[in-house]
Amino acid sequence: MNKELRKAVIAGNWKMNKTRPEAKALIEELIPRAAETSCEVVICVPFTNLETAVSLTEGTNIKVGAENVHFEKSGAFTGEISADMLTELGVEYVIIGHSERRQYFGETDETVNKRTKAALAAGLKPIVCVGELLDEREAGITEEVISTQVKLGFAGISAEDMKKTIIAYEPVWAIGTGKTATSAQAEEVCLFIRETLAKLYDKATADAVTIQYGGSMNPKNAAELLAQPDVDGGLIGGASLKAADFGVLLDEASK
Ligand code: PGA
Repeated sequence: MNKELRKAVIAGNWKMNKTRPEAKALIEELIPRAAETSCEVVICVPFTNLETAVSLTEGTNIKVGAENVHFEKSGAFTGEISADMLTELGVEYVIIGHSERRQYFGETDETVNKRTKAALAAGLKPIVCVGELLDEREAGITEEVISTQVKLGFAGISAEDMKKTIIAYEPVWAIGTGKTATSAQAEEVCLFIRETLAKLYDKATADAVTIQYGGSMNPKNAAELLAQPDVDGGLIGGASLKAADFGVLLDEASK
C-alpha cells in the first residue's frame, strides 16, 4: 500500500451467500469491528440484501456495494438491475466483470466497459475485476491478457472517471481455491496494471487508482500482500463471510 498516494480499500464479495437474517447477523457483528479500523470498508452483497445492508450500516464506516449492474438505464431486460436503481437505494460501489460473471454469464471486456460507464454515470464507484486463467499464466501471456482487459475495459473512460474506479487484480486460479498468488506475483501484476494506466492516461492518474488484490486473501497472508507498494487493498470472497476473519483484514489494511 502507498497511503500517501491512495486509499486502502478492503471490499467483501459475498457472492451468492447469506439470506436476509444471516446478512443482518453478519453486518451487526461487523459494525463494531469495522469501527475500530481506518481503511475504506465495503461489503458487496447480493441484490436481495442491499436494502438491509444500507439501512443497517447507515451512520457507520461501512459502505455497501452490489455485485453486478446492467448497462442500460431501464427497459425490457428481465432480471437485470440498473445503476440508478442501486444509487437510489444508497448503494455506493459495484463489482464489475468478476471472473465468475465472465466464466458463467458471458461477461466480456465490452460488457465490462459498458457497465463501468453506466456505473460511473450514475455516481457509483466501480470495482472492475481483471485476471488471468491458469493456462494463460502457464503460457506466459499474463501481461497480454491483463493489458487487453484494461485497455478494452476502460476504453473511452476519462482520466477523471478512472481515478474514481478501483481495479481488482484477481488471478482466476487463486479465487476460492486456497491458492494465493505470492506477494511478489501480486505486486508484479498490480504494478503492471499501474504502468498500463500510466501509458493510457498519465502517471498522476495511474498513481491515484486503488488496485486491489483478490484471490484467497485471508488473515494469514494479508499482511504480506498488503505490504506491497502497488497492492492497495483486497477484494475478499470466503474471508468476508466471517466477521472475525474480515476484521483481521481490515486491521491489516489500516496499519
Ligand atoms: P476468494 O474470492 O477470496 O474466496 O478467493 C475472491 C473473489 O472472488 O473476489
